[in-house]
Amino acid sequence: MSVLFTLLFSLAPVLGYFEYLQLVLQWPTTFCHTKPCPTWPPPNNFTIHGLWPDSKGKMLNDCGSGDDYDDIPDAHMRKQLESDWPNLTSRAGEIKKYQEFWGYEFNKHGTCSMDRYNQDQYFELALKLKNQFDLLNILRNHGIIPGKTCTVKDVEDAIKAVTAHVPNLNCIVRSSQRSSHIMELLEIGICFDREATQMIDCRRRWKSHPDINQPITLPR
Ligand SMILES: *[C@@H]1O[C@H](CO)[C@@H](O)[C@H](O)[C@H]1NC(C)=O
Ligand SMILES: *[C@@H]1O[C@H](CO)[C@@H](O)[C@H](O)[C@H]1NC(C)=O
Repeated sequence: MSVLFTLLFSLAPVLGYFEYLQLVLQWPTTFCHTKPCPTWPPPNNFTIHGLWPDSKGKMLNDCGSGDDYDDIPDAHMRKQLESDWPNLTSRAGEIKKYQEFWGYEFNKHGTCSMDRYNQDQYFELALKLKNQFDLLNILRNHGIIPGKTCTVKDVEDAIKAVTAHVPNLNCIVRSSQRSSHIMELLEIGICFDREATQMIDCRRRWKSHPDINQPITLPR
């Protein structure tokens, strides 16, 4: 019996069984401090970095053959993705580069939830989850606005007040401002169960910031 259990549990990650989903939203201006963005200023709202299916025990990545992605044919869907899930390192309208980004994310992450969401469903779900709440407004309601300094805790508390669960924050030190102790908020992860009907605490959290009282900002 125990042999069977061991076998089942060790097989599960190999088969790519995902247990939860993390929607990763990025703050474009911070992203554009790490990579050159041809369009300045970048969008003044959160955009999608990815929707990452994961398991609790083992990080899931690349669950498919490497080229499972088919360019998105539907024009309406493409339009929506162009504004909500842009490739910030390419120019708006460079649709091939956008498809590259969506394809990269789908092959690396989307393939790990194919037992539940096919490609169309995966992208629809990402858009739906993103538009379920207005993160920018949630933060603003808690006095957190671009250009101001707050702490990791302030942002976590503002999001928790709405989701009731712990988000995952990723912050960076801007290379040109090494002497500053203020970090820039790059990404916010919000986690959902497999069905994406319930929010849950994020696991496997980024350890980019030293502690919860770390001063951070959303750069303007
Ligand atoms: C995004 O666009 C850039 C340049 O326009 C390209 O080099 C890159 O491969 C694209 N895809 C990803 C995954 O960022
Ligand atoms: C920011 O995006 C959210 C959806 O993700 C949207 O509801 C909101 O209107 C946007 N805010 C601005 C100022 O564009």
